[in-house]
Amino acid sequence: MSKILNIAVGSDHAGYELKSVVIDYLNTKGYKITDCGCFSLESVDYPDYAQAVAKEILSERSEVGILICGTGIGVSIAANRFDGIRAAVCSSEELAEITRKHNDANVLSLGSRVLGDNIELIKSIIEKFLSTEFEGGRHLIRRDKLDIH
Ligand code: RB5
Repeated sequence: MSKILNIAVGSDHAGYELKSVVIDYLNTKGYKITDCGCFSLESVDYPDYAQAVAKEILSERSEVGILICGTGIGVSIAANRFDGIRAAVCSSEELAEITRKHNDANVLSLGSRVLGDNIELIKSIIEKFLSTEFEGGRHLIRRDKLDIH
């Protein structure tokens, strides 16, 4: 993956508050953020925001995405329906590191109701995801099979 400069971020209502925290954090790190919504606590449908983030990446306006819903699962299922999107739900630094090294994940999915108020953990997961390179080699062969149907 080329150097990460642009990050698309999206959430449903369950992830809305955490999305604001994540965007503030990423801004302090100098990334250019595209906020794909949602924009309030009003109940919305998570596929709309996962699809918006997926399209940002596929159009190459952003190198990676961060998606947040209650569990991280709904948004990852929705995003993974797009060829070229590899969304991974991560609840630890270790998972974030391995999914970058082995899966070349380009979307980090977070569960606000799983991770709760553990902002330091959330920041460390994001940092690990953004700073870990894909290992390539045998993993490249496997990655490239993902979009063969
Ligand atoms: C919303 O209540 C919740 O279902 C959603 O955020 C997510 O967890 C779905 O996977």
